[in-house]
Amino acid sequence: MAMTIPRPLSRKERRAEQEDFFPIQRLDYVEFYVGNARQAVHYYQSGFGFNLIGYLGPETGVRDRSSYLLEQGQIRFIFTTPLFPEGPIAEHIHKHGDGVRDIAFQVPDAASAYAAATERGAASEAEPTTVRDNNGSFTRAAIRAYGDTIHSIIQRNDYHPHFLPGFRPAHDTFEIKPTGIKAVDHMVANVELGKMDDWVNFYANMLGFQNTLHFDDKTINTEYSALMSKVMENGNGRVKFPINEPAAGRKKSQIQEYLDYYIGPGVQHIALATADIVATVRDMTSRGVEFMPTPHSYYEALPERIGEIKESYNTLEELSILADRDDEGYLLQIFTRPVEDRPTVFYEIIERHGARGFGAGNFKALFEAIEREQEARGNL
Ligand code: FE2
Repeated sequence: MAMTIPRPLSRKERRAEQEDFFPIQRLDYVEFYVGNARQAVHYYQSGFGFNLIGYLGPETGVRDRSSYLLEQGQIRFIFTTPLFPEGPIAEHIHKHGDGVRDIAFQVPDAASAYAAATERGAASEAEPTTVRDNNGSFTRAAIRAYGDTIHSIIQRNDYHPHFLPGFRPAHDTFEIKPTGIKAVDHMVANVELGKMDDWVNFYANMLGFQNTLHFDDKTINTEYSALMSKVMENGNGRVKFPINEPAAGRKKSQIQEYLDYYIGPGVQHIALATADIVATVRDMTSRGVEFMPTPHSYYEALPERIGEIKESYNTLEELSILADRDDEGYLLQIFTRPVEDRPTVFYEIIERHGARGFGAGNFKALFEAIEREQEARGNL
């Protein structure tokens, strides 16, 4: 069972939450700005198994955009597209291509969380506002994070636990079978060279996160690429944000390639937790989601590195699934190819068996696989 799937808080966790000046109950949703939301939604329905549950647009009285609300397990994604060339959504897409605009936190008190963050220096994107509708009362504020990414701060009170104001119910127009992905395990930011510690400090000082892991360019490097990464976790450990910055390699690092195509910092990948990665990856592959291949040589050394696991090593190799182990257990993971034409945002599918890490032992294997694609694009 993936550890990020929320369960009732223990007494210790409740106490930590009370002392936390920016307590986060869960990720509320992730909103993407995309060039054609209707078609993007079809990809997440057919490939990832998300259900369409809400819609907002001209038919609901919103003249300048369409937004689609998708859900699977505890994951909520919103895909928003502008209907006209002017305005911040169109500008975001023009600059970045399709990408993540908003990582929204659900909190018990939006006004106090917003005040705590902004008093500590976080830049405001939107002051708290409350709307009341048939679904209850909903308060939202927002602060700015790296690049053009923001964090909405959502207080739902008695509000419908799945829905957002302004949306009307919507339904799939074809049969959607779930793929087994259940929750967001972590979301990774790529930031510019020399900026990692600024954003580590942002999450630590303004949102009360802790730096729990650190990889330097000696741990993670290949012939071409190296990266430095620090992992930030919120007080109750439910929100995990590794932050990467490029490090000098012989040629352009993949983090730098992302920054060059996204035109600045942004979300690099979203890791989605499943309780059965073999079934999930087999299913998603059959639906046309493309995963990064892993060389046979990776699997020759794997049983010795990882030891006994529940899954068959032959099956892992058949599906290109990676494995890693730390003091507390093992994890299985795999990465998709970028899901848009710019080599920017991609996904990870992860199944944890106790391990709390992020697959540092696999970064090199992942880098080598990504570099083969970079080479094919002429960027190495
Ligand atoms: Fe990851």
